Amino acid sequence: MQSIDFFKNNLELLFEIVEKINTPVFITDAAILKQKVNSIQKAFNENCLLFYAIKANFNPAIINVLKEAGINGIETISPFEINLAKKLGFDNNQILFTGNNCDANELEQARNSGVIVNLGSILELNSFAKRYSGAEISIRINPGFGDGEFKQIITGGEDSKFGIYHTHINEALKIINDNNLKLIGLHCHLGSGLYDTKNFTPMVDFMFKLADQIVDLQFIDLGGGFGVRYKPTDKEIDLTQFAAVVNQHYKKYKSLEYNNVKIIFEPGKYLVAESTFLLTKITNIRNYNKQRIIGVDTGFNHIIRPALYSSYHHIINISKLEGIKETVKVVGNICESTDIINENIELSNPEEGDILAILTAGAYCSSMSSLYNLRPYAPEILIDSNRFTVTRNRMSFEETISSMGFIKL
Ligand SMILES: Cc1ncc(COP(=O)(O)O)c(C=O)c1O
Repeated sequence: MQSIDFFKNNLELLFEIVEKINTPVFITDAAILKQKVNSIQKAFNENCLLFYAIKANFNPAIINVLKEAGINGIETISPFEINLAKKLGFDNNQILFTGNNCDANELEQARNSGVIVNLGSILELNSFAKRYSGAEISIRINPGFGDGEFKQIITGGEDSKFGIYHTHINEALKIINDNNLKLIGLHCHLGSGLYDTKNFTPMVDFMFKLADQIVDLQFIDLGGGFGVRYKPTDKEIDLTQFAAVVNQHYKKYKSLEYNNVKIIFEPGKYLVAESTFLLTKITNIRNYNKQRIIGVDTGFNHIIRPALYSSYHHIINISKLEGIKETVKVVGNICESTDIINENIELSNPEEGDILAILTAGAYCSSMSSLYNLRPYAPEILIDSNRFTVTRNRMSFEETISSMGFIKL
């Protein structure tokens, strides 16, 4: 994430952007994107492939930076995500489709697109098997437990809607066998925001044991979820601990080495979250019962994570990088009481017109944006070596309305 020094060193550029583009605006630092790809490549060995979970942020300019930095593929969840990955130059064998609650039509689109299809329920597996006997597939397993920084983003366990539950694996293998499907991949994603290997280790244990029994296996996908920094005091996650678990298991199961089975990781958040901050302007200040409520010109239409999961996003007043700090509540301009960005944040002397940077805003912010209250999406900027490029324009009223597909105004 960006340090105070980053803001000190780039203040002129940031105010030039605000002058030209106005707020709210997402700003992505290409250097951090490259650094994140690099950290994963350094921690894991050449058996491991890095597929970016495109749902975290589908800005093509950001994906191009990740591609140049060396990601090996894209993890997708919908036919449009597949289309985008293809448009950006990824081959079919570099795209994994992990739909969920897909109908037959969506499964057909994925199958016809030629990408690797990862099936996450007995019903979808059955429906796919009936029509595409002999096809190569991967299956998503729910090992009976999950992990993650908020309960809403844990994707394993008996309450989860994701994956083929571990007690149903024999049933899945029978469907695969009876329909001559070729099981080339096993997949598991525990959830989002893993900071240690407490749950990762038993998951890897489970997946490798299962993988050892599958003859045609080409890859084990261990999901994404690597944790990120939200506060300046947070430490970087230690990826070498995760790599050590994978390496130990790889050594233990010789059949996997013999068959050159690849390990796939599919992080979204880790690669993009810290690269980006959202610049917003203070538009209002209210003083109630000793509490100061700071209103800004963005809201959960651009950054929904605090309202959705109570996630913390650090905020810096870049108009006053130094100054006496006050504890305030920062709220958005959406007409909902839940539109709170940070309940309890120290800002230096906040005043109307100041520009705030909301940090760790690169994942699940722009991509989860909406047009609620008919406020347009925030434009996006990529900065690289002291230069900036507009990668997404702010749409006008006419463009916004026509993009929504309404028949008549
Ligand atoms: C199947 C799957 N893979 C990967 C990811 C990426 O997770 P994260 O962004 O936490 O790395 C997700 C997130 O929802 C997911 O559902």
